[in-house]
Amino acid sequence: MTDHFSFTVNATDGAARTGEIRMPRGVIRTPAFMPVGTAATVKAMYPEQVKALGADVVLGNVYHLMLRPGAERVASLGGLHAFMNWPYPILTDSGGFQVMSLSALRKIDEEGVTFQSHIDGSTHSLTPERSIEIQGLLGSDIQMQLDECVKLPNSEEAVEKAMRLSLRWAERCRVAFGEQPGRAMFGIVQGGAVERLRVESARALVDLDLKGYAIGGLAVGEPQEVMLRMIETVEPHLPREKPRYLMGVGTPDDIVESVRRGVDMFDCVMPTRAGRHGTAYTRFGRLNLKNAKWADDPTPLDPASACEATRSYSKAYLHHLVRSQEILGMMLLTWSNLAYYQELMAGLRKAIAEKRLEDFVAETKEGWARGVR
Ligand code: GUN
Repeated sequence: MTDHFSFTVNATDGAARTGEIRMPRGVIRTPAFMPVGTAATVKAMYPEQVKALGADVVLGNVYHLMLRPGAERVASLGGLHAFMNWPYPILTDSGGFQVMSLSALRKIDEEGVTFQSHIDGSTHSLTPERSIEIQGLLGSDIQMQLDECVKLPNSEEAVEKAMRLSLRWAERCRVAFGEQPGRAMFGIVQGGAVERLRVESARALVDLDLKGYAIGGLAVGEPQEVMLRMIETVEPHLPREKPRYLMGVGTPDDIVESVRRGVDMFDCVMPTRAGRHGTAYTRFGRLNLKNAKWADDPTPLDPASACEATRSYSKAYLHHLVRSQEILGMMLLTWSNLAYYQELMAGLRKAIAEKRLEDFVAETKEGWARGVR
């Protein structure tokens, strides 16, 4: 196993790439989907199960972990990998985005962000330096810069201000991170739906020579075509030899369309959160198991799936579990959804390697259009 962080592109098909990120805790095959493990758990899943489905990396959140159980506590317990029994790579988000979406009272200034905990109302602050310190205490393998992400639509002025603040914070994070050969810090491109700002943000981050680049501030209320246009705007400015990560995205279709445009990494709560709320993502599209139309259906979600949850439990049973709010319903649907997301990523990687991505995309979309029967 390697002692430093590296990324290799093994094959390309159009703008799409497949490759490998190598680091001491393991290899991430790209394009990669990272299940979200916000509070040191991919909700309703055993870590062993997450790995067995093909996830090479999971995501953790500074915001949640600093509030509970506390970064210093996790460090004294041996770090996040030991704490949650996930010995493979972990990427952590820096906290700014979650402060904006979860905490009620917050104040942003040059220094950082001050906010009240959504758990007990206590006051906390997060600076770029403290976010990197926390990610270090957690033992995170891929650390994200602290940034400010504004909701869309928004005024150009507000978007520009947040983008520039995020750039200054990226520099401070880079200094705080220093040199850590086995780990990486990624910058985050901001700039809303304004092409000029996106390009400026990407170029300035590239000048900082970071290990990877995320595209942030998308899937925050804008239509899919705007999101895809922003990816197309940013992509030519990002170095080919570094990984690109689209944060918080998305639906299977968002992922496919973004991979076609050159994105290597994704994370999203969708498969896990939707699973806990009775929604299944399958080769034949999305379905809501709460719907009465499944109450008498003895067939599984997909009889040909490699996933036990997808193949061996009837829609009628899943419907019953979801309607009764049984824990097993959440477990089975989360399992099935993550299996489908990982199957999709494996399919994308293989198709790129074989230079038949467009055929794979067409077949995949035909499946979704067919619908679950
Ligand atoms: N998760 C989804 N979008 C974003 C973003 O713009 N910034 C950060 N830090 N996390 C995100």
